[in-house]
Amino acid sequence: MKLFVDTGQVEEVRTAASWGILDGVTTNPSLIAKSGRGFKETVTAMCEILPHGSISAEVVGTTVDEILREAHEIASWAPNIVVKVPMTPAGITATRHLSREGIRVNMTLVFSPSQALLAAKAGATYISVFVGRVDDISGEGMRTIEEVVQMVDTYDFESEVLVASIRHPMHVVESIRLGAHIATMPFKVMEQLFHHPLTDIGLERFLDDWRRAGLHIFEPAGAR
Ligand code: G3P
Repeated sequence: MKLFVDTGQVEEVRTAASWGILDGVTTNPSLIAKSGRGFKETVTAMCEILPHGSISAEVVGTTVDEILREAHEIASWAPNIVVKVPMTPAGITATRHLSREGIRVNMTLVFSPSQALLAAKAGATYISVFVGRVDDISGEGMRTIEEVVQMVDTYDFESEVLVASIRHPMHVVESIRLGAHIATMPFKVMEQLFHHPLTDIGLERFLDDWRRAGLHIFEPAGAR
């Protein structure tokens, strides 16, 4: 499963990339607005940090013509950009055009299997299914992931299911169980994936035992 970080902060991408496990970045207009930096400079900086990953950058136009114009501009910034397009009739029409041109699309704001079907048929590379926003209103976000993964498998669509709007590590664990292709998460959640109290206790014990026994890896200078 691919791991993406969902952020508008270039420094978070740099840190996550330094771990060597980052496959991509997703941004959205709200995250970019919060970053305090320009759209193009933020996205191109992320593309340079992660040249073999995919960086999703979203259009803000709402008509087919506006979406296509913005998508062409954004896609021209770097070869590893995936254009994020909203799940609307205009977005679907634009996605059909863009995928035929070879421009990769991440269809966003998908909340149901029927919307996901349209995205897959339009040729979206990624289908971003939001889970946290559904859980926030007492829905079952992960249930939709299960249905969309099953749909993609059953009909052999090429689209990958991207679990978006992740709130905590259990959303990531459930994404693994359901066979989702990608999980995108806030930097804080990605950091949480590292931690387990038994790892900390276990490491402390190993190091204590080692120190108490006076062992070393590198022989002290002069030792035979
Ligand atoms: O970028 C799309 C999605 O991940 C947004 O998440 O936390 O605003 O629901 P959130």
